[in-house]
Amino acid sequence: DGKYTVTLIEGDGIGPEISQSVKDIYSAANVPIKWETVDVTPRLKDGKTVIPDEAIESVNKNYVALKGPLATPVGKGHVSLNLTLRRTFNLFANVRPCRSIVGFKTPYDNVDTVLIRENTEGEYSGIEHVVVDGVVQSIKLITRDACERVLRFAFQHADAIGRKKVRAVHKATIMKMSDGLFLRTAHDVAKEFPHIEFDAELLDNTCLKMVTDPTPYNDKVLVMPNLYGDILSDMCAGLIGGLGLTPSGNIGDECSIFEAVHGSAPDIAGKQLANPTALLLSSIMMLQHMGLNEYAENIQQAIFKTIAEGKTITGDLGGSAKTYEYADAVIKALK
Ligand code: IPM
Ligand code: MN
Repeated sequence: DGKYTVTLIEGDGIGPEISQSVKDIYSAANVPIKWETVDVTPRLKDGKTVIPDEAIESVNKNYVALKGPLATPVGKGHVSLNLTLRRTFNLFANVRPCRSIVGFKTPYDNVDTVLIRENTEGEYSGIEHVVVDGVVQSIKLITRDACERVLRFAFQHADAIGRKKVRAVHKATIMKMSDGLFLRTAHDVAKEFPHIEFDAELLDNTCLKMVTDPTPYNDKVLVMPNLYGDILSDMCAGLIGGLGLTPSGNIGDECSIFEAVHGSAPDIAGKQLANPTALLLSSIMMLQHMGLNEYAENIQQAIFKTIAEGKTITGDLGGSAKTYEYADAVIKALK
C-alpha cells in the first residue's frame, strides 16, 4: 500500500501519551508510515531475561524504530533496556543535535551543536568486578574497530549535513591508552576525508568553552567515546532548554532506533502533562533518515511555530496545555 512500516516502542510512564501525539500528528500530516507497536518488556527465556523475539524481529524487518522512554533501574546490576537495545542491534553511533528553539528562552539563543557519541563500548561495556572488599574495577573497553566506525560515521555525517569540520573530544592526557587509541584512530580516519578539517579538544576544555559561548561549535561535528557523549550531550541539551526538546538517533549498519533521551517521568504519567517534543523531533530525524524530507519539514515547522507562538504549550515550556492540546495545535500549524 505504498507505506513504510516502522516499529514503535512506546515506552514506560509518559511513553504512551507522547507516542499518541506522534501518531496523531503523523496521520494528520499524511505521513506514509504504518506503525507496528511492540512490547520490549523483558521475558524469561531459557532461564535468562531477554527482549521478546517479536520486538527484535520487528526491528530487523522494518530497519527503523521510534522509541519512547524506558525506565532504567539505578545501581541494580547493569541491565538497562535502553542499552540492551543499542547493543542488540549494534547501533554504534548515537547522533544528538541541539538547536536553539525560538520561543523558548535560555541564556543562549544561537546554539546549533551536533554531537556523535560512540554507542557500544567504553565505560558502557558493563565489565565490572570486585577485586577485594572495598576495591572495584569498572573496565573502559575501547577497540580500534568501534572507534573507526563511529569516527568514519562522524565524517560522513558532517558531509551529509554540510559541515566542514569534525572535532574529536577526548581526555587522552589521562586515559592515555583508551582515549589515545580513539585519538590516533581519529587522525587516521581524518585522512580519508581530506576536504573536512579535523582537530581535537580535551573534554574539560570543551565543557568550559561551550558553556561560555557555544557558537564556535555551530559549524562542527563533535565525536567522542561513549560516556563523554552521554554527559556532554546532556550539557548541550541544557543550553537549549533540556531533554524535553532534544532528539536523538541510534544508527547502525542494519537498522536504526530514534529515541527521546528524557526519562519516563512516572510522576506525571497518564495526566496529559508530558511534552512530546523530544519524541517528535526524534521522529523527524527518523523521517530524514528515511528520505521523507517533505514530511519532516512540514511537521518540524509546525512544532517550531507552535512553540514560538507560545499559546498552546505544555507546562515544562511555561504553558498550561495538555499533551493532546499541544499535539492538536501542531496539527493546526501543518501546511
Ligand atoms: C541516554 C541515557 C541512557 C545512557 C540511560 C537511560 C541508560 O542517559 O540515552 O543518554 O546512559 O546512555
Ligand atoms: Mn544520558
